[in-house]
Amino acid sequence: MSTRHYSHYIHGQGWIAATLLLMAGLFALPCSAMAMEEMILIRSVAKNPQRPPVRFFHDAHNEKAEIEDCSFCHHVYEDGKLVEGESSEEEPCSSCHPANPEKGQLGFMRAFHKRCITCHDKEGKGPLTCGGCHVKKS
Ligand code: HEC
Ligand code: HEC
Ligand code: HEC
Ligand code: HEC
Repeated sequence: MSTRHYSHYIHGQGWIAATLLLMAGLFALPCSAMAMEEMILIRSVAKNPQRPPVRFFHDAHNEKAEIEDCSFCHHVYEDGKLVEGESSEEEPCSSCHPANPEKGQLGFMRAFHKRCITCHDKEGKGPLTCGGCHVKKS
């Protein structure tokens, strides 16, 4: 982890969780297993998922994509307005973006597609096809 990310880790418990994860990776596993340790399988909360879960190499991805602000994805809203400088990494996206959203609420699939695909499209990098993110188990 590079130092330029450090300040973003200071908020809340996410920092502790991330540090423990990193330490477990550093001390308990051989190098070749580290990349796997960092992979998050983003599972659908839909009752009957239509697509395989998305494999997301969290830290490696965000470093390559040069996203320094955790709250770009792990954001906090109050009264419908984005709160600057606060983040919500201890909460899964689905706790605020459920499979069956209420009126005016952004649902599970759309929240991810909006956050993830918009940038890939804009930057011309990263998968755009369904199978590029929803990778079938081989
Ligand atoms: C490009 C979007 C994005 C950015 C930027 C991002 N994350 Fe995440 N993060 C995710 C997603 C997606 C998940 C999985 C959440 C879920 O399952 O609902 C996640 C999960 C996590 C988790 C839970 C780990 C686990 O195993 O479930 C932690 C802790 C976390 N992120 C910390 C951070 C920190 C700290 C930063 C900033 C250095 C950060 N994230 C930046 C998208 C992002
Ligand atoms: C603590 C609650 C909360 C969490 C956790 C959360 N969001 Fe949100 N998000 C909101 C609220 C509130 C809005 C405003 C729209 C709405 O009410 O659904 C929003 C809006 C968005 C938007 C549209 C605005 C924009 O920034 O483009 C996207 C995309 C989004 N969320 C993706 C995500 C993703 C991906 C995650 C997990 C990494 C996540 N959100 C986690 C509460 C949350
Ligand atoms: C701000 C821009 C941005 C956002 C937001 C973003 N990505 Fe990416 N993504 C990239 C870029 C850039 C690459 C290409 C990285 C490279 O190989 O140089 C990439 C590559 C990928 C890859 C290919 C494998 C890898 O890790 O390099 C996957 C899978 C992926 N992104 C999934 C996601 C998912 C899932 C989300 C949402 C949770 C997301 N991305 C959000 C910019 C972004
Ligand atoms: C940049 C990555 C990315 C691309 C490209 C992408 N998705 Fe997703 N999609 C996600 C993520 C992340 C989730 C949330 C985790 C999950 O459900 O696996 C999601 C969720 C879903 C869901 C809700 C859960 C389910 O399986 O029922 C559906 C349906 C879906 N995507 C269909 C598609 C289709 C169809 C395409 C192609 C037109 C596509 N996605 C392209 C990242 C992507």
